Amino acid sequence: MSTFKIAENIYSVGIVDKDVRIFHGYETPYGSTYNAYLVMDEKIALIDNVKGKFTDEFIANIEEICPLDKIDYIITNHIEPDHSGSIEKVAKLACNATIIATAAAIRGLGGYYHLDNSKMQAVKAGDTLCTGKYNFHFVPMPMVHWPDSMCTFLAEEGMLFSNDAFGEHYASDVHFDDEVDADFLADCMENYYGNIVLPFGMQVMKIIEAAAKLDIKMILPSHGLILRKDLGKYIAKYIEYANNVCDDKKAVIVYDTMWGATELMAEELKKEWEAEGLNVEVYKLSDVHYSVAMGKITQAKYIAVGSSTLNRQMMPTVAAFLCYMKGLSPKGRIGLAFGSYGWSGESINLVEKELEACGMEILPQRKTTWKNGLI
Ligand code: FEO
Repeated sequence: MSTFKIAENIYSVGIVDKDVRIFHGYETPYGSTYNAYLVMDEKIALIDNVKGKFTDEFIANIEEICPLDKIDYIITNHIEPDHSGSIEKVAKLACNATIIATAAAIRGLGGYYHLDNSKMQAVKAGDTLCTGKYNFHFVPMPMVHWPDSMCTFLAEEGMLFSNDAFGEHYASDVHFDDEVDADFLADCMENYYGNIVLPFGMQVMKIIEAAAKLDIKMILPSHGLILRKDLGKYIAKYIEYANNVCDDKKAVIVYDTMWGATELMAEELKKEWEAEGLNVEVYKLSDVHYSVAMGKITQAKYIAVGSSTLNRQMMPTVAAFLCYMKGLSPKGRIGLAFGSYGWSGESINLVEKELEACGMEILPQRKTTWKNGLI
């Protein structure tokens, strides 16, 4: 049962998806949730939808609280299908509802779904919606996570419905941040930020600045747990992430190896960096998903990437990781390429070129033939 009461008149009606393990290329070992909220007032507002495959379960959740034809507004903070996949059927049943979204979201919804354009209302920064005793304030947050994204602030309750911001992929039977281990939650949030939000630091800061003017008592994201304790701690962490504040003592080594020589190089580099006082984590890409390594890079200053040379290329696992990392564009990092080869050795330069393309300062590359110097 995923429906629960958050406060008088305010319910969570979203979906807990314990089974999802890959989320558009991102490994989710703890599953995820697609949070949606129902706010009961003179006018009733549904905030966000869920992934399409859960449409019927979502409708049943809503019907526990109210019939869909009583809903007046469907506030759509973001159109990515994990938050909109159910909207076509829901909007059909919520036949008296107006969809409230940014203009970009309305364009995107039209591209994804068959919806009645006459029942959509675009909102922009500063717009509000009164439902009786409640007033919703809309704060567009383009690129956190897509151009259409916005968050919605319920002023009278101090509730910020933050959509993809401040979330984490964690499916659980509990609902609030103070019901789980704080360090575990911090790790989940860091992993989520590194894999989803990392490229958008400038846009995140704009939202933080807008949010600073609001009296926020609770943050209700679209993934994971509702935050109600130490909100300042989460906001401070987002400010660090957004400003690319790195841990100067943290290094991550990511590699793959054909016959073990590049692995030995990774082990040697780890020992050397640890001797220099760094905290080093090592990820072998044939053992862990590239998004696991990426999550650890969120605040790491040093990133070393190693690959054997295979058919004059880097290994495909390493290429996939570098492609993914380049898209997420960690800033202000120091990179190092390494690898072993037999006769041509292209992989090291290819890796280094990708690290340069990420804008990293580059340390001298390391290469060896066979296992020369390693055993
Ligand atoms: Fe959770 Fe950008 O969707």
